[in-house]
Amino acid sequence: MISKKMVQALNKQLNNELYSAYLYLAMSSFTTYIGLKGAANWFMVQYQEEMVHAMKFYDYVLSQGQHSQLEAIAVPPAEYGTLLSMFEQTLKHEQFITKCINDLMDLAIKEKDHATQIFLQWFVTEQIEEEGNDNDIICQLKLVGDSPQALMMLDKELATRVFTPPAPAVQ
Ligand code: FEO
Repeated sequence: MISKKMVQALNKQLNNELYSAYLYLAMSSFTTYIGLKGAANWFMVQYQEEMVHAMKFYDYVLSQGQHSQLEAIAVPPAEYGTLLSMFEQTLKHEQFITKCINDLMDLAIKEKDHATQIFLQWFVTEQIEEEGNDNDIICQLKLVGDSPQALMMLDKELATRVFTPPAPAVQ
């Protein structure tokens, strides 16, 4: 049986994932506003992915016979600077999320909660991809430097990202 402490920690992560979605929605709005529609698409896909992550926590808590205590979602920044700065902020945020997932896994191991460990495994793998994507784009943006033409070409590439719903965490 899942512990109360574990449920509270999972609910906290539900909130973190909802904040992630909110953050990327704000970034999508900002990049549309500054004329980078490809980047706006990339952040909108990221928003959709984060909503799926949030719902995985929501569904898992219910599958364990518990329910989610929903809390207020923090307000994301309104301004983000350059696209390079935005992706650096994105990477920093994802590194924070990775730490949160690792802390959850540590708690599940400590509590000998095998079901939650299996559930969290999907997120451990997902975070490798999340950070990897950000690192790749940061490298490309550093190569772009101050060239508007190169930035527009990269923006076209970011426009090709498509949302693909991930496999369910609870099989
Ligand atoms: Fe749900 Fe981007 O971590």
